[in-house]
Amino acid sequence: MTRRDLIAGNWKMNATHLEAIQMVQKLSYRLDPADHERVDVVVCPAFTALRSVQTVIEADHLRIQLGAQNVHWEESGPYTGEVSPLMLSRLGVRFVIVGHSERRQVFGEDDTVVARKLKAVVATGMTPILAVGETLDQRDRGETDEVIGAQARTALRGLDADQLGRMAVAYEPIWAIGTGHNADPDTAAAAALVIRAVVSELGGLEAAAAARILYGGSVNPGNISAFMAKREIDGALVGGASLDPDQFAAIVRYWV
Ligand code: 13P
Repeated sequence: MTRRDLIAGNWKMNATHLEAIQMVQKLSYRLDPADHERVDVVVCPAFTALRSVQTVIEADHLRIQLGAQNVHWEESGPYTGEVSPLMLSRLGVRFVIVGHSERRQVFGEDDTVVARKLKAVVATGMTPILAVGETLDQRDRGETDEVIGAQARTALRGLDADQLGRMAVAYEPIWAIGTGHNADPDTAAAAALVIRAVVSELGGLEAAAAARILYGGSVNPGNISAFMAKREIDGALVGGASLDPDQFAAIVRYWV
């Protein structure tokens, strides 16, 4: 089973729609068709920039794919300030980050909410990028496997084997996010194994062999190839470095 590389840029709460247009255009100039043969390249702008970025992708026939950073679980209804999976899907959004640690920690999303969102994304035909990861305290206490295993299990339970196989899960240790201190690639690969074991437990070996597991946390052009060299790691979820098209393109072209 060969899994296609997936490299996604999480722009977080950065870039106005005008800046986002420039960023995706610059990124496209730095990538060539061979890169897209090898890697699924995804950018996840803020909600306000999705439409603009989608227009650039469509008008310029780009192979960069569109992702969102968050979503609500209902199709419509009295949820002031929220955006539904249907709204995203109609905009051409293909990927949705679900359960990012900033959503969990700053906005109080628990595993139940994460599971609902994940199911709604799947039901709408988009690909969730489920983020899981431990805090530094949890790592120091030796609870990493238990924490990420439980996060993955609660979110993924109820999906069938086919759906599980099309998932992406990002291992993002919280202590590595935005700190400049990336996890050691062996540590990341070990965590990816734990996540893959959960997918196998829920959906069987075939689903586990097909699901893509990414690493996220201070990924940059200098460290990406060490992560990609790990058989268990199929790509990256990139924060800060994805805001710079030169750096993000260098990450996508990690083998160069
Ligand atoms: P950084 O790459 O800035 O550490 O962010 C990682 C992240 O949170 C991606 O979702």
